[in-house]
Formats: sequence, C-alpha cells, structure tokens
Amino acid sequence: MSNVLVTGGAGFIGSHMCLALLESCHDVIVIDNLSNSCLEPLKRVEKLAQKSLIFIECDIRNDQKLRQIFKDHSIDAVIHFAGLKAVGESQRFPLSYFEHNIAGSISLFKAMEQANVFNIVFSSSATVYGENNRSPYHENMPANTPYNNYAFTKLMTEQMLEKLALADQRWSIALLRYFNPIGAHQSGQIGEDPRGKPYNLIPHLTQVAIGKREKLSIYGNDYNTPDGTCVRDYIHVVDLAAAHLHALDNRLKTNGCRTWNIGTGQGHSVLEIKETFEKVNRLDIPFEYAPRRVGDLPAYFADNERAMRELKWQPQFQLEDMLKDSWNWQRQNPMGFK
Ligand code: NAD
Ligand code: UFG
Repeated sequence: MSNVLVTGGAGFIGSHMCLALLESCHDVIVIDNLSNSCLEPLKRVEKLAQKSLIFIECDIRNDQKLRQIFKDHSIDAVIHFAGLKAVGESQRFPLSYFEHNIAGSISLFKAMEQANVFNIVFSSSATVYGENNRSPYHENMPANTPYNNYAFTKLMTEQMLEKLALADQRWSIALLRYFNPIGAHQSGQIGEDPRGKPYNLIPHLTQVAIGKREKLSIYGNDYNTPDGTCVRDYIHVVDLAAAHLHALDNRLKTNGCRTWNIGTGQGHSVLEIKETFEKVNRLDIPFEYAPRRVGDLPAYFADNERAMRELKWQPQFQLEDMLKDSWNWQRQNPMGFK
C-alpha cells in the first residue's frame, strides 16, 4: 500500500485509475485543474470503491502550489495523466500544448525532486513512433519523428524523464505508451465524457447511437488496409488502469527508466469497430465516408510482449467487451456527467 498522487485524475483514464488504486488499497491524492473534467467522476469513484480520496484543484503549471502539495502530503509515487490530448488542436495551438504538456511536466518533476519523490508512471502515447516505423510497434524502434505537436510533447517528456534517470539513480520511471483506450467501467458509472464535439471515434459512435449526432463520419476508405479504413489497437480502459498498477509495483522495486507498450496487439479497422458495435449492442449506426483526417496514419498496433513478460500484465477484455461497456456508459449517462 502506498500514497499515490494522480495528476489529471478526474479525466477519462485518471478516474478509472483512481478506482483501481483505491480497490488495491492505495491512498489517492488527485490534482486536476478540471479544464477537461469535473468532480462528479471522482464522487462516483469514491462510491464505487466505498473509500474516499483527496482532491486538490491545481494546475500542474503552478510551481508554488505543487510544492506545497508535496510538503503537505507524504507521497510515494506519482501517476501523471494531466495534459492536453487532442491531436488536431495541437496543430492549431502548439504553444498551449508545449505549456501544459512540457512546461507542466517540468514543474511536476521539479516538485517531485524537491520532495524526494522519485517514482513516476507517465502517460505516453503510441503516436511517438511516428510514420517511419512498421507495426507491430516495438519499444526498441526509433521514436524520433513525431508527426504532430501532441506526439512531440509526449516524446519530449519521455526524453526528459530518460535524462533525469541517467543523471540521478534515485529516479524510477515507467513510460507507458498507450494505444487507443476505449470502453468504460462495467458499472456504467464512469466513462469518457468529452467536452463539445468528440474528436475520438468511440464517443462519436456512442453519441450517434444515443441520438445526439446524426451519423458517424468515417475518415477515409481508400487507405492501404484490408477494407480501406484505418486500423488501430483498441485497449479497454480498465485493462489500461491495471497495467499502471503493475508498472507502479515494478517501479517501486527497480530504479531507472523503462518503456512499455500498452495495447492488445490486435489491429481493428474503423469499419470493423462500427460493425462490431452494431452487432454486440443490436443497433444500427448511420454512417458516411468522409475525406481522410489530416495527421492520421493508415494502420498501427502494438507488440505488447514486453509488458506481458516484464509487468506480468495481460489484457483481459476483448473488443466486444470494450464496445459493450462504451455503450453501457453512454446509455446510462446520455448527457455524460451532467
Ligand atoms: P482527459 O482529458 O480525460 O484527462 C486529462 C485530465 O487532465 C483532465 O481531467 C484535465 O482537466 C486535466 N488537465 C489538463 N491540463 C491540466 C493541467 N495543466 N493541470 C492540471 N490538470 C490538467 O484525458 P485522458 O484520455 O484521460 O488522457 C490522460 C492522459 O493519457 C493524457 O496525458 C493523454 O495525453 C494520455 N493519452 C491518452 C490517450 C487517449 O486516447 N485517451 C492515448 C494516449 C495517451
Ligand atoms: N475516426 C473516424 N471518425 C471519427 C473519429 C475517428 O473515422 O469520428 C477514425 C480516425 O480517422 C482514426 C480512428 O478512427 O482512423 C481512431 O481515431 P481516434 O481519434 O479515436 O484515435 P487516434 O488513433 O487518432 O488517436 C488516439 C488518441 C491519441 C493517442 C492515440 C494513440 O486520440 O491521443 O490514440 O494511439 F495518442
């Protein structure tokens, strides 16, 4: 059992993480500026776990407040989710991405160092592999050509953490490269609740299913893939949270910096996602083919052997489960957390 500080803990992945931590008998302190979330998921997490957590509204760019939080609380490890995550937006507002994702991370690492806290699990992304690697992506492949500003911020933060571990052996760092997290907790109480028009495929799909949007646009059907639509590796958010628990455990025992891909190793096309969603939930999803979305790569999926071997973690959920759970969340919460 340890005291874990979760940055961005009110968000989609963060809230599932908080639940997994509480259920594994850890104590949890969440810091979040609520720019893309609200308090409701944390209230529901406490109810589900029958245990309370500490919430502090704080922007990770606020050095002073961060330092105070580390002084006021005894913290063993940090799981760092806070940041901005929309690829398209990162092309329009690069400075904002550099500020939240890079400068914010530097503030956090400084506060950790000052407080002698050296264990961290960082939310990185498969986008760091860029366009020059062929799937399945392996952790040893060169990640040096990020194809958008969001990926650039993840790569920069990974590289900073690698250098910190080289400079000071007290650091113990897990870089988790997520593939595409979807699904929701089986209770249907917490899930993905994007603000405004959803950017990602699954919230778009479920909002069409609930009648909030007219039809799904599939971006591009002329890719060099089996059915012409893009292929991705979708991972259940509950499996993803479990991977963090394993990484945390691993890092509390070993020093240095290590990277793990967190995906299922299976690629599925956009069309396959739509058709499987329809089948498992017995629904029809109106759709249209739309032009390719700028910045999309045709296909990628993970080699997850290292995570399975070293972290002794294994994804438990199939695509069908993920799509049932995504719909269960949306159906029970047509307006999200409102
Ligand atoms: P999310 O937007 O739901 O959660 C992020 C949380 O961080 C939100 O609650 C937001 O309010 C908070 N936040 C943002 N900027 C902050 C700041 N400066 N200070 C304090 N809090 C701040 O996103 P998510 O899907 O849960 O993603 C969590 C992490 O995982 C992000 O770092 C994201 O880049 C990474 N990631 C996500 C995906 C994905 O597809 N969802 C894939 C790969 C990596
Ligand atoms: N797509 C559609 N219609 C939509 C939304 C998406 O056809 O309405 C397609 C996209 O073109 C893409 C696929 O569905 O081919 C998946 O798109 P998402 O936006 O759901 O996810 P991305 O693969 O673009 O990126 C996601 C996260 C990133 C993360 C990455 C890691 O948004 O933050 O996964 O693989 F880094």
